[in-house]
Amino acid sequence: MLRQLLVWCLLVLVAGVVLAAPLLRRRFPIGWWYAVGFVPVAVRVLRSWRPLAIERGLTITRRPPLALLGTLIVRGQPLRPITPRIGIPRPRPGGLVVTVRMHAGQTPGGYAAAADSLAHAWRVHAVRVTSPERGRVRLTALSVDPLADPCALVGPGSADPLMCARVGRREDGAPWVIDFRAVPHWLIVGATQSGKSTLLSALVTRLAPQPVALVGIDLKGGLELSPVGPRLSALATTRREATALLEALVVETQLRMTVCRFAGARSVWELPGGKRPMPIVVLVDEVAELFLAASRADKDEAARAATALVRLAQLGAALGVHLVVAGQRVGSDLGPGATALRAQLAGRVCHRVSDSGTAEMVLGDLAPDAIDAAQTISADEPGVAILTGVGGDWMRARSLLVSPKEAVRVCAAHAHTTPHLPALAAALASCGKGAP
Ligand SMILES: Nc1ncnc2c1ncn2[C@@H]1O[C@H](COP(=O)(O)OP(=O)(O)OP(=O)(O)O)[C@@H](O)[C@H]1O
Ligand SMILES: [Mg+2]
Repeated sequence: MLRQLLVWCLLVLVAGVVLAAPLLRRRFPIGWWYAVGFVPVAVRVLRSWRPLAIERGLTITRRPPLALLGTLIVRGQPLRPITPRIGIPRPRPGGLVVTVRMHAGQTPGGYAAAADSLAHAWRVHAVRVTSPERGRVRLTALSVDPLADPCALVGPGSADPLMCARVGRREDGAPWVIDFRAVPHWLIVGATQSGKSTLLSALVTRLAPQPVALVGIDLKGGLELSPVGPRLSALATTRREATALLEALVVETQLRMTVCRFAGARSVWELPGGKRPMPIVVLVDEVAELFLAASRADKDEAARAATALVRLAQLGAALGVHLVVAGQRVGSDLGPGATALRAQLAGRVCHRVSDSGTAEMVLGDLAPDAIDAAQTISADEPGVAILTGVGGDWMRARSLLVSPKEAVRVCAAHAHTTPHLPALAAALASCGKGAP
């Protein structure tokens, strides 16, 4: 009797779990993955590795492709392929990681090309291929899209350390942090509607509570940066204003250099707290508008603006003047200053791009492996971008979706802390414009 009751209870429990499975999976994706999802996928990875490697040409063979058949020499695919050695899959939140030792002569590119096939065979959302050390590739299988809800990780209430801004979420589950102390200048590139201005808004809203002066250059008539206007110490909306502002910033940087030299400091961060000038972050939206000019007078102004930007990028890092430059392209077609500027912007963010040349321009010098990944970002993933890290490392991430309403609210709340920079106000006034 007792046994029958136990069997019935067990049956009811199993039926309950089976019926509630879709709901449990949706509500607790990470817990579900560890409890139920990981083991079958890990088994699938190990069982399918050899046939997949053969199918996708990831194997090698020690036998020569030519053989003697009677009096004929024949060429063919030799038998006995040697599969690259795969490690033990290790679970991680919402996915698994497995390392593969590449054969001599192989590069991560071949594995990246096979990523889609691996994702289908393992029945996961996606497989990412990175190469953290020479001779090995790391395959990360993601059971769900971790970037589907970037707002879940960065709560609006949590504050960031000085000169750091958590602007979104990385695919490995960690927050996406723009840290100006570690990487002083940033380049954000992406096709139209890829999420550049939203990322700038996210950056401003995260920096708004900090003792940082924010300066905007928005040659789309101020349309993009106007929601965050109250927290900007200066906003230039024409090339003339931008040039005046950038040249005033160069003078400010030179003054800071003198202060540091007299104090025997190599950067503003070595100055004592009371003497340290406030860090300045200059945000440039749609940089091409600054560089491209039609008339002769415009060209002179554009050249002056480009020179000032390059000088700021060269001098500003140690002197607390930082650049964040966003645009659809930042290539040599914009003029001689554009390439020099790009070389100085070590932090790279590449949103969806419309051609491989642009991805190569942004990522080619720092993370060539990421160029293919940047081109797979689709139009229905606004805000998704490739970030470069140290040593050619890269990562997919998605910015916080900050609505204009939210940006207005946050910036209005911190408007009273906006630093007044008289030199910049004077530069704008010389063009006939008041502070924003
Ligand atoms: N992280 C995100 N998550 C979801 N949607 C986003 C995200 N970032 C941007 N979007 C959406 O994508 C659209 C385009 O964003 P945004 O204006 O920032 O693009 P842009 O690159 O600045 O475009 P343009 O070059 O035309 O100025 C907006 O409607 C925005 O709501
Ligand atoms: Mg924009």
